[in-house]
Amino acid sequence: MEATQQTLEKAVLEKMALRQQQGAGLDMSRIEWLDRTAQPYRELMAYYRCALMEVETKFNVLNQEFSVQYDRNPIESIKSRIKEPSSILAKMVTRQYPLTLESLEENLCDVAGIRVVCSFIEDIYMLADCLEKQDDITLVTRKDYIKNPKDNGYRSLHLIVEVPIFLQRKKKLMKVEIQLRTIAMDLWASLEHKMKYKKQVPNAEELTRELKVCAEMSARLDERMQAIHQGLMGD
Ligand code: GTP
Ligand code: MG
Repeated sequence: MEATQQTLEKAVLEKMALRQQQGAGLDMSRIEWLDRTAQPYRELMAYYRCALMEVETKFNVLNQEFSVQYDRNPIESIKSRIKEPSSILAKMVTRQYPLTLESLEENLCDVAGIRVVCSFIEDIYMLADCLEKQDDITLVTRKDYIKNPKDNGYRSLHLIVEVPIFLQRKKKLMKVEIQLRTIAMDLWASLEHKMKYKKQVPNAEELTRELKVCAEMSARLDERMQAIHQGLMGD
């Protein structure tokens, strides 16, 4: 709670500094919105954290079951995060969503995000299918950037799900964004992300081309490693 309060205040200060630098941009009413809604905002973020715990537990349970049955872990690592207040505000302002908490819940699907990194492509689909079948999970959207990679070469399976959290007096459905990737996809995405957010890249065009080639190579690598793995399992 303490940390969130600090983050919130930091975000507001950052936005104010940004506004001074840029002159126009975000007006004070938008910044004040964060201030005004601080307590209900913190509550909502706590609910998102609960939803992340629920989904993370579901993946850990599947991983456990699989490791007992097949003596191997399909999940390499799980990372979760709550979107920073400054990023939430920036997205709501740029997309012109009403600045209310209801609109935040309604319109933003990536406030709670979980990234599941797997060894093999087949693990991704197995885990996604198992999760989607669970009777308390509602699938909102599924985007398969593995079968249909983005133009830049980005691959991952994206799910938006709704998961219930059980509070003292009510049950609340929360949206969680899940990204499932292989180790190779994860490495590629973090490299590409670094490049995208770096302000001045001298040879950007060349690096973009090189990244695309790497994406294709890493896709072939994933396929070949999976084939070897299947070969070993078949023995
Ligand atoms: P938002 O821009 O977050 O609203 O996403 P969207 O509605 O376009 O959804 P999409 O599923 O395409 O992307 C959601 C998230 O996936 C992003 O916030 C990133 O974390 C990740 N992602 C999508 N595309 C790329 C990409 O080209 N490169 C990298 N590094 N990450 C990506
Ligand atoms: Mg996003």
